[in-house]
Amino acid sequence: MSAESPKTEITEFTNPNLEILYTVDEIKDRIREIGQQITNDHRGRDLVLVGVLKGSCVFLADLMREIDLQLTIDFMSVSSYKDGTVSTGDVEILKDLSNPIRGKDVIVVEDIVDTGLTLSRLLEILSSRGARSIKLASFLDKPEPRVKTQLKIDYTGFVVPNKFLVGYGLDAAGRYRNLPFIAAVRDPSAA
Ligand code: IMP
Ligand code: MG
Repeated sequence: MSAESPKTEITEFTNPNLEILYTVDEIKDRIREIGQQITNDHRGRDLVLVGVLKGSCVFLADLMREIDLQLTIDFMSVSSYKDGTVSTGDVEILKDLSNPIRGKDVIVVEDIVDTGLTLSRLLEILSSRGARSIKLASFLDKPEPRVKTQLKIDYTGFVVPNKFLVGYGLDAAGRYRNLPFIAAVRDPSAA
């Protein structure tokens, strides 16, 4: 028998630089609850889910399958964090909606609300377009750095500590969106 123990390969998902905060199962259970809430609140409405690219793509994909209603989806892309971790407050529309939202009940779907600058600006822009209602669903709510304190989040997955989080759509300079869990990066300078 060899004295060498089998080496456990470190992969993207088992990276020891990641501290898991919410597991796959916890996320699944919570999203089921939010989906049921949204279903109950929007019966008989003309519902549109607007995903804010790119971070919301995983949340949106899971959430919409827990909403047992007739609905459509659309996407917007805005720039906020430019490959860094500090919010600039500047919001530029990189991709606008494909369809009008006039008369519709809109839920803007975000990955995380941090300072709230991005969402406040985005909601301002959307509110001039004649929607019947506009609500906000954010998978994560990080209230500590909030600048736009009046911003109301109608549906939240988890309220999180003031740490830089990745996974489940959230990235650090483009990386980690594919992690199936939410993690904090222990050492942001380490690869
Ligand atoms: P806010 O304008 O500060 O609220 O930030 C909005 C955007 O910043 C989010 O949609 C995310 O794309 C990004 N962001 C904020 N906090 C984090 C984080 O902890 N991890 C990854 N991205 C974040
Ligand atoms: Mg992002």
